[in-house]
Amino acid sequence: MTQEQERKPGPGALRDHAVGRPFPTSFDASRLPSARSVPALGVGPAPEGGTGRIGIALMGLGDFTLRTVLPELMHSERCALAALVSGNREKALQVAAAYGLPDNAVYDYDGFDAIAEDERVDAVYNVLPNGLHADWTVRAFAAGKHVLCEKPMANTAEECLRMISARDEAGKALMIAYRAHFEPHNQRAIALIREGALGELRTIVSDHHRILDLSDSRDVWRADLGLAGGGALPDLGIYGLNAACYLTGHAPEEVFARISTHREDPRFSEVEDQTAIQLRFPGGVLCTLTTSYSAAGVNTAAAFGTEGSFFMQPATSYRGNTLTLRKGGKTEAIDAGDGAIQFPRQFDHFAAAILDGTELLTPAEMGLRDMRLIEAIYASAREGRPLSLNPDGTVRGP
Ligand SMILES: NC(=O)c1ccc[n+]([C@@H]2O[C@H](COP(=O)([O-])OP(=O)(O)OC[C@H]3O[C@@H](n4cnc5c(N)ncnc54)[C@H](OP(=O)(O)O)[C@@H]3O)[C@@H](O)[C@H]2O)c1
Repeated sequence: MTQEQERKPGPGALRDHAVGRPFPTSFDASRLPSARSVPALGVGPAPEGGTGRIGIALMGLGDFTLRTVLPELMHSERCALAALVSGNREKALQVAAAYGLPDNAVYDYDGFDAIAEDERVDAVYNVLPNGLHADWTVRAFAAGKHVLCEKPMANTAEECLRMISARDEAGKALMIAYRAHFEPHNQRAIALIREGALGELRTIVSDHHRILDLSDSRDVWRADLGLAGGGALPDLGIYGLNAACYLTGHAPEEVFARISTHREDPRFSEVEDQTAIQLRFPGGVLCTLTTSYSAAGVNTAAAFGTEGSFFMQPATSYRGNTLTLRKGGKTEAIDAGDGAIQFPRQFDHFAAAILDGTELLTPAEMGLRDMRLIEAIYASAREGRPLSLNPDGTVRGP
C-alpha cells in the first residue's frame, strides 16, 4: 500500500536532544590517523589577530565528520581544526589525539557554552542530525562563533528564520554547506549554461536515490521525523532541488509534486520515501526531479538546450563526478579535475567571508529558500495540485 506523506513526528522523536553515539558502524576507528601523520594545524589567535586562518570546532562526530569532513579539513588552506564537540567523550578524545588536538579542545553538549571563552575557535561546523541544526546553530551564535551548517539548513522554514535572526543578532556569518557549488564539474556545468553552450536552456532532469538501511547507524535518525525533518527529499532530493536553481540561475515559479511511500515498511513509518517533482522556472524552463530511499544509489543531473545538452553521472558525489557534453553531433567528456577539491574550497570560501568580508555563495538565505521549496513540495503533494511560488520560495496566493 502506498500513501501520501503524513508529517507527524512519532513517539520516538528526539527532536531537541543531542546525545553522544558510538563510532559509526561504517567507520573503522583503527584507521584514524596517527597525530604524527596529520599536517601541522597552524591554529593561532582569532582572525582579528591576523593569522589568515580560522579555527573550526566540529560538532557531531558521526559518519560524515569522521570519514569525510575531518580528512578533507586537513587540505584547507584557511581553516584549521581547533576543537571537537561530541556527546561521546571517549570517542572524541580518541579522535582529538589522532588529529593532534589537546584534551581541553574537546567539548560535550552540556558544557558547550564554555566555548565562548575559547579563542582558538572562530567558527562551529554543525554536522548534527537535521533536527538539531537550528538549536545548536543558535547556541553557537550565542557563544559568539560563526557557523557553517550542514544541509538541509533545518527541519522547517520557521527554524531557518530563527537561525537567521540569531546570526544577525550576533553579527556573525552563517553558511550552508552546499558543497556542490565548489565542485569543479558542477561549476563547469553552470558555466556551460551561462556561456550559452547549450543554446537556450529548456529542461533539467536530476535524480538522487539511495537505499535507507536501518542497520547502518547513520540511517537510524534519518527514519525519525523529529530528527530528520522528512525522508529522502530533505536528505537527498535537496541536491537536485539546489542544482536546478544553480543551473538555471533562478528560483522556480511553480511546483507540482507526488509522494509515494510504503508505510508498512518499518523504515517509512514516519518519513516519506519517493518524491517526484516538476518545477517551472522563469522563461518556461521545466525541471523534473526524483528522489527516494528505496532505489539503488545513484545521483544524476542533465540539462537540455536548443543547441546541445549535458549529462552528469554521478553529479553530486564527493569525487568522481562526470560531465558529458553533446553538441553538433559530437560527444565530449569534460574532465574538470578532482571533485574532492570541493571540500577544501568550501572551507576556504567560508574563511574568506569571515577574514576578508567576501560574499557567501551559499548563504543562510539559500538554505531558507530551499526549506520553503521543500515545504511547498510537501504541500503540493498533500493537496494534489500545482502551487505558484514567489522568488523567495514562499507559496503565492491561496
Ligand atoms: N554534505 C554532505 O555531503 C553530507 C553527507 C552526509 C551527511 N550530511 C549531513 O551531516 C549531518 C550528519 O549526518 P551523518 O550521516 O554524519 O549522521 P551520523 O553518522 O548519524 O552522525 C551524527 C552525529 O551527531 C551526533 N548526535 C547528537 N545527537 C544525536 C542524536 N539524537 N541522534 C544521532 N546523532 C546525534 C552524534 O555525534 P557525537 O557522538 O559525536 O555526539 C552522531 O555521531 C546531517 O545533517 C546530514 O544531512 C551531509
